[in-house]
Amino acid sequence: MAFFAMLRRPDWLEKTRMNRNELNAVALAMVGNGKGILAADESTPTIGKRFATINTESTEASRQRYREMLFTTPGIADYIGGVILFDETLRQSTSDGVPFAKYLDDLGIIPGIKVDTGAKPLAGFPGETVTEGLDGLRDRLTEYYELGARFAKWRAVINIGADIPSDFCMQANGRALARYAALCQEANIVPIVEPEVLMDGDHSIARCEEVTDAALDALFSALAEHKVVLEGIILKPNMVISGSVAADRAGPAEVAAATLRCLQAHVPANVPGIAFLSGGQTAEEATEHLDIMNKTGDLPWELSFSYGRALQAPALDAWQGQEDNFAAGQAALFKRAKFNSLAHAGSFDTAMESATV
Ligand code: 13P
Repeated sequence: MAFFAMLRRPDWLEKTRMNRNELNAVALAMVGNGKGILAADESTPTIGKRFATINTESTEASRQRYREMLFTTPGIADYIGGVILFDETLRQSTSDGVPFAKYLDDLGIIPGIKVDTGAKPLAGFPGETVTEGLDGLRDRLTEYYELGARFAKWRAVINIGADIPSDFCMQANGRALARYAALCQEANIVPIVEPEVLMDGDHSIARCEEVTDAALDALFSALAEHKVVLEGIILKPNMVISGSVAADRAGPAEVAAATLRCLQAHVPANVPGIAFLSGGQTAEEATEHLDIMNKTGDLPWELSFSYGRALQAPALDAWQGQEDNFAAGQAALFKRAKFNSLAHAGSFDTAMESATV
């Protein structure tokens, strides 16, 4: 599927009217057919922190080489339908000089772009944030489209604490997500809408469910108010899960059941795809949870993955910033991508973790 070829059609560059069918086709190409999304859109400070864990300096060249390792993994296109890029990466090329966006598109992997500018303190609401990046977004989307991006990502961050989140915080973030999504659809770009309820804290799974319920409620009300076409979005939610330092953490079956209950209560059937973030789960947990949910079957949407750390952490660890480990890093990514694709189909088995791929 050569979405990149659309770049060269002048009518595409002039078009500002949203196109429901095309948005829906892109969304399904990202998460249909057992595929999922590789989130490789770490900002420069964030990738710097990741590289620091393997004692690797973060330079434009090292970031290019690392992303090249991920994207050129042999066979990856069987499992990955979209890759989220950071601004710098969208402007970079393979070592052979092929722009990453074109390289991915030629493989049938849709390039996307992170467009928010980060979660900032919400004035008057201590401990809460609102995500920024709406100013100038229309023009940035036009440029990103020309550079080959066919979907975008915006991440809202909801913190759980003693007296938070407030309803106001969830509404402010829901409205920002909806304004972003409407602008994306106007530019013929599929918006990934990500209202992330953080796992940080000692809260129970029941508290996570209550907050995720409220965050999704605020989001879908705002999407409706802003006339966002649900057939042309991907929802990227957190799973409903115990806080990372909770005393008694819920097991996989409970996480899967609570997450599905929450999604079924809030996500209309015309949303084509839901692709989870991993949010601090281990790579193995993120795969197992997704698999259990898909094993229940009969879901109205594609239930897939858009993992950052749960796909990349094993690859980063195998690579260690060393050229000699390039193929080992690719093998580690391949394994996680394949396992998550199996989990998308509900065909994974935890025994596979110890078998060679
Ligand atoms: P994680 O899977 O590491 O949570 O990252 C996904 C992502 O893109 C967050 O915006």
